[in-house]
Amino acid sequence: MTAPYRIAIAGLGTVGAGVVRLLQTHGDLIAKRAGRRIEIVAVSARDKGRKRDVDPGAYQWVDDPVKMADLDVDAVIELMGGAEGSARSLVERALMNRRAVVTANKALLATYGAELAGLSEHHGAPLLFEAAVAGGIPAIKSMREGFGGNRIDAVYGILNGTCNYILTTMRETGRAFADVLAEAQALGYAEADPSFDIDGIDASHKLCILSALAFGVQPSLADIAVTGIVNVTADDIAGAADLGYRIKLLGIARRGENGRIAQSVEPCMVPVGSPMGAVDGVYNAVFVEGDFVGTGLSVGRGAGAGPTASAVVADIIDLARGHGNVPVFGMKINDLAPASWAGPADVHAGYYMRLVVKDEPGVLAAVAAIMRDHDISIESVLQRGRDPGKPVAIVMVSHPAPRAQVDAAISKVAGLPAAVSAPHIIRIEEFS
Ligand code: HSE
Repeated sequence: MTAPYRIAIAGLGTVGAGVVRLLQTHGDLIAKRAGRRIEIVAVSARDKGRKRDVDPGAYQWVDDPVKMADLDVDAVIELMGGAEGSARSLVERALMNRRAVVTANKALLATYGAELAGLSEHHGAPLLFEAAVAGGIPAIKSMREGFGGNRIDAVYGILNGTCNYILTTMRETGRAFADVLAEAQALGYAEADPSFDIDGIDASHKLCILSALAFGVQPSLADIAVTGIVNVTADDIAGAADLGYRIKLLGIARRGENGRIAQSVEPCMVPVGSPMGAVDGVYNAVFVEGDFVGTGLSVGRGAGAGPTASAVVADIIDLARGHGNVPVFGMKINDLAPASWAGPADVHAGYYMRLVVKDEPGVLAAVAAIMRDHDISIESVLQRGRDPGKPVAIVMVSHPAPRAQVDAAISKVAGLPAAVSAPHIIRIEEFS
């Protein structure tokens, strides 16, 4: 058999330990698939003494992870995370040393993807990152290779397992947000800083990478409008159910007829009976619309040690087979087109609007007048509870309207003397 494929692993947290365990468990099977054994030569982590469920004692221990770039190995596996610091230094140095790199680091790819793609290309060193997006779903490979013959018009989906787990569990059990978040952390789904999950940042990193691959443009995090799930209330979840919807945190990147690409991450209502509405718990979903292929959908676990390790090891197998040297964003860096990004005015959707106002004469008429003045047509209105003079919730659903107009109308509603609290708006996506 060919000589072993030698790797160094930086980071032994949930994902790193999962990779070691997977390679230990399936060493023989993987050797057959890769055509050679995968040999872990060295490992590095922040705390050598920490109790873990894998024993790093069998491998060379390296205190400074960045030095792993100088080891005599075929590939460096970066599983520390973070866009800056050691992770970035290690990846850059390894590529400059012509070592292949596998990383699960979406923050790094979304922030410095173009620069790293340039280094990879210049030094002829592969950079693979299947685990960076949607955990165990082979989203990168399918986008870069499987759909390679198509012009892609849209990519969208559920890209954060923690948020989907929280929204699903809140809906099913009525439990409080903080309690469910703690459970997601204990299950190893959440980021080191869970605000990355619940504020939509993690999903925006993943959308940024998918969008670059889909549209053949440089990743641009700054051009994604991001809203997390922290303001989604139990009332919104119940309101969605009343209307036949479920609330999902969606990343959506779509090329409009004017050629501009709109990218957003925000809670959306999707029909209960739709494929998207059925994706619950820690599962992610990635939809792709291509001009020849039509719509494709992949669903799988988006977080946790097993699915993420599965994606990392798939990349290692590709490298060991000699299949890893593919352009980072599916084409050479000079062939990536300059993107024309869309703003909020270009997003056209129906909106759920939940307003809490004083229950007194003329309030509904004032709200309706504001909607009329902003050219927003109302599809349905629901007011629950009658206690004159006391706060009451009005739920309105609009026909599709430009987001900029909806935002302007909502800020006027918030300024009405009868407004009790800030209105909530949630985009409705029918995906028809
Ligand atoms: N924290 C991420 C999620 C997992 O919940 O989806 C890794 O990307």
